[in-house]
Amino acid sequence: MQDLDIDSTTKAVLEQMALTTDPRLREIMEAAVRHVHDFAREVKLTPEEWLKGIGFLTAVGQMCTPYRQEFILLSDVLGLSRLVNLMHDSQGRDEAATETSLLGPFFREKAPEIALGGSIISAMKGEEIVIFGQVTDPAGHGVAGAEIDVWQTDAEGQYDLQANDPSVMDMRGRLRCDAEGRFHFRTEKPVGYSIPMDGPVGALVRQQSRHGFRPAHIHVLVAAPGHRELITALYFGDDPHIDSDTVFGVSASLVITQSAGLEGNPLPNLPGIRYDFTLSPASDGAGGRVGSDPSKLMPTG
Ligand code: BEZ
Ligand code: FE
Repeated sequence: MQDLDIDSTTKAVLEQMALTTDPRLREIMEAAVRHVHDFAREVKLTPEEWLKGIGFLTAVGQMCTPYRQEFILLSDVLGLSRLVNLMHDSQGRDEAATETSLLGPFFREKAPEIALGGSIISAMKGEEIVIFGQVTDPAGHGVAGAEIDVWQTDAEGQYDLQANDPSVMDMRGRLRCDAEGRFHFRTEKPVGYSIPMDGPVGALVRQQSRHGFRPAHIHVLVAAPGHRELITALYFGDDPHIDSDTVFGVSASLVITQSAGLEGNPLPNLPGIRYDFTLSPASDGAGGRVGSDPSKLMPTG
């Protein structure tokens, strides 16, 4: 018969899980149990606090819809998403390749296709800019036909998913690079915005006296066969929250600023930003789109 105490409970749980057939699941769950038990011992978690924590996680789950992923948001504000990205980058990202950044909760599959030079904004409210550049491999060869997905807020800091009718797609688009991997598209300069603060994660962020803002940015996903999918974002250096992103997404190499009279700007009457994306080779040789749609996490039936 087991007669468990504060320390032997952990051992008993690990013993019961020892026959887990999937070795990776076993490794992950063993570490999770050890750490969560150590955490409870360290903070001397009381039953009331335990229940409060369960209530919090329940509320996070209840906030999720096909249009809103509160668990990803929780991972983001705790820095877990950034940490996972950094570890992913440290394994298999070519040194020369573009750094990654957070996918965030607002990515959508099958955004409207736009021609090179087209606009991703249906009703321009802010400063129109052009973003152009080339997608290359680490040796600098253009990646012909690379697919680029971009998505951002409007000039008021709202994603299409936050608008009255979230089924309408706007401020996002898909474009295909030319034979040399070159691309350009028009958009409006986004503004920084608050992460959704009307749910349990927002309440936590407020209790922690954090501002809840992300600096203005444009999300970019680049995919091409034979290359590792790149999920990143470009951040505007003049944003007041560039050094205090609530979800820790900014890297120095991803900071941009628009300027007039930029050499090579294919639409020289607009302020331009040149950014070249460098893809790593795919470790399995296949590469291309891996699939990153957060709404797929929702039950369908
Ligand atoms: C975003 O950039 O879209 C985002 C990322 C993390 C949390 C909320 C929003
Ligand atoms: Fe964003």
